[in-house]
Amino acid sequence: MLDAYNRHIDYIRISVTDRCNFKCVYCMPPGGAKYVQQEDLLSFDDIIKICRALVKVGITKVKITGGEPFARKGVIPLIKAIKEMDGIQSVTATTNGYYLEQIVDDLVEAKIDGLNISLDTCNAQHFNQITTVDAYDRVMRGINKAIEASIPIKLNVVPIRELNMNQIIPIVAFAIKKSIILRFIELMPIGHGTMFTPVTSGEIQAMIQENFGTLQPIDKKLGNGPAKYYALEGFSGAIGFISAISNKFCFSCNRIRLTSSGFLKTCLHYNQGIHLKPYLDKGISEDELMTMIAHEIDQKPKDHGFHDKLTSNVEKKSMFQIGG
Ligand code: GTP
Ligand code: 5AD
Ligand code: SF4
Repeated sequence: MLDAYNRHIDYIRISVTDRCNFKCVYCMPPGGAKYVQQEDLLSFDDIIKICRALVKVGITKVKITGGEPFARKGVIPLIKAIKEMDGIQSVTATTNGYYLEQIVDDLVEAKIDGLNISLDTCNAQHFNQITTVDAYDRVMRGINKAIEASIPIKLNVVPIRELNMNQIIPIVAFAIKKSIILRFIELMPIGHGTMFTPVTSGEIQAMIQENFGTLQPIDKKLGNGPAKYYALEGFSGAIGFISAISNKFCFSCNRIRLTSSGFLKTCLHYNQGIHLKPYLDKGISEDELMTMIAHEIDQKPKDHGFHDKLTSNVEKKSMFQIGG
């Protein structure tokens, strides 16, 4: 459906858990966090019911996120069920890659349409420092297995001044070697992200051009999200930039979010939306859900206010609690 600003909303990001076995220093507090309790999580039946209502308001694309989505048992059957739903065109997931090597075959069987995998460094020791988990080799095996199984993958990198600037060129070289799509995401001032220094896409683009030649804009969309893609001569993948800060893309926003506790969230930056779980607990019908969701989409904020000193309605949660 169209929202009040004439934006076509056809994409939902569904977080199935706020838990993550990694504690990336820009995302999670070192000791972990106060997680959503089991009884406050949306059940998979509730998620499926919400998806049916979402299809009725025009959602066709679903991203499963976390925390780490594959840390929750039963997520692959959920992906399969959503994928089989009439009206759904694609189901993809965003993951830290930890469980990948064990689940690639099941994901193929569930007919997943793609995976975005976080990789902020190409150095095993450094990986350990950023994620606090000694899992670089394991994640690499998962990435290789997904490539062999022909699951379309993209790598997500968040460039951070204090953390991984010396890894930008090695990561691009790795993506070129593997012919995979790579995206650089500007750090957003959310949760622990506020403690680090962001790097603009422009700076990363300049570094890449200096080392690998001219970045040529690609017109085609390579996913559901806001990334702008570029080609490099001799590279069959692509390099995308998600520039939420330096090049706001809210005018073309196509998405809403559902948190693991059942809050339907209409913008990353605000706590605007509706807590659906109490209604599901009371047995709300699919049509009533649809009306509620349509009303919220109609109220979707015009744009994020990262540049403003906003005080009201601003989201206080961290990225792992929102679902990215
Ligand atoms: P595809 O395009 O389908 O590959 O997925 P995606 O880029 O939407 O998904 P992914 O989970 O990989 O998200 C990448 C980053 O984009 C995350 O850090 C998100 O928070 C960020 N992002 C996605 N949507 C928005 C948005 O509406 N606003 C802002 N500010 N950031 C967003
Ligand atoms: N700003 C931008 N991206 C972030 N991510 C986590 N925290 C932030 C932040 N503050 C990224 C992860 C993952 C994606 C879903 O979100 O690295 O790749
Ligand atoms: Fe986990 Fe992703 Fe946050 Fe890292 S960025 S702690 S992998 S949710």
